[in-house]
Amino acid sequence: MSGTNPEKVGPLEKKVILTALTVSAVHLMLIAYAAIHWGLTVPTCVTNVKPFESGSITKIGDKRYEIHVVARMWNFDPSEIQLPTGSTADIYLTSKDVTHGYHIDGTNVNLMAVPFVVNNARVKFDHPGVYHVTCHEYCGSGHQAMNAAITVSDNADASAGGALLANAQAAAPATLGDESLPGRKLLDTKGCVACHSLDDKPGVGPTFKGIYGRKEDFADSSSGIVDDAYIKESIQTPMKKVVKGFAPAMPQLPVSEEEIAQIIAYLKTLK
Ligand code: CUA
Repeated sequence: MSGTNPEKVGPLEKKVILTALTVSAVHLMLIAYAAIHWGLTVPTCVTNVKPFESGSITKIGDKRYEIHVVARMWNFDPSEIQLPTGSTADIYLTSKDVTHGYHIDGTNVNLMAVPFVVNNARVKFDHPGVYHVTCHEYCGSGHQAMNAAITVSDNADASAGGALLANAQAAAPATLGDESLPGRKLLDTKGCVACHSLDDKPGVGPTFKGIYGRKEDFADSSSGIVDDAYIKESIQTPMKKVVKGFAPAMPQLPVSEEEIAQIIAYLKTLK
């Protein structure tokens, strides 16, 4: 009956157990190493974030942000997020109707937005630029157009585009340019004012105040006068001539020739 004593652990079993424990330990250490040194997102299951009704961005430390995102047919709230370069964001995501997806281009964040559930991921934005967010779960007729953008730049204050837009409007003096021009409204609807102030306040992009006819130095060391041609070029190919000192963060937006002309007409009045 030797070797069959159930109480006794044989040398071979000991080896197997030891190997299994070592493999587990190494595995956990590798995950910890990846999370700390490479900033990889380690999936977590439980969050202590309470269910929320609307999107928000909260600064919780130096370059640390907590972002609540609400997905619903067919948009994300917030849809425009601005963060300083080097920020680490904890993103908490939920849905108010059907299941949506939340994929941030250029990162490994790929979350599901599920009703009554909060999913989360941590992401560090080391490089300036525009990170496009798309819904990757078919959610109905507006699915294709369901997207958002995270703009990371060296001179951004963290904010949601909507909030910043509201601030810009609230803080704006009564008369800027000719506010009745259709181009003025386009700056709101196209989201321009989220990054470009109308009253000389610093923003992600250069202020629009006095922009028409201004001489700008560009990142490629050239310089030029802001005229019709430059404004048109900047809207259609934003990365071509970026004003020095600003991140190449401007997205290419769908703006028609007619709308561009209206925007130019307004900017001419914004002295
Ligand atoms: Cu939301 Cu697809």
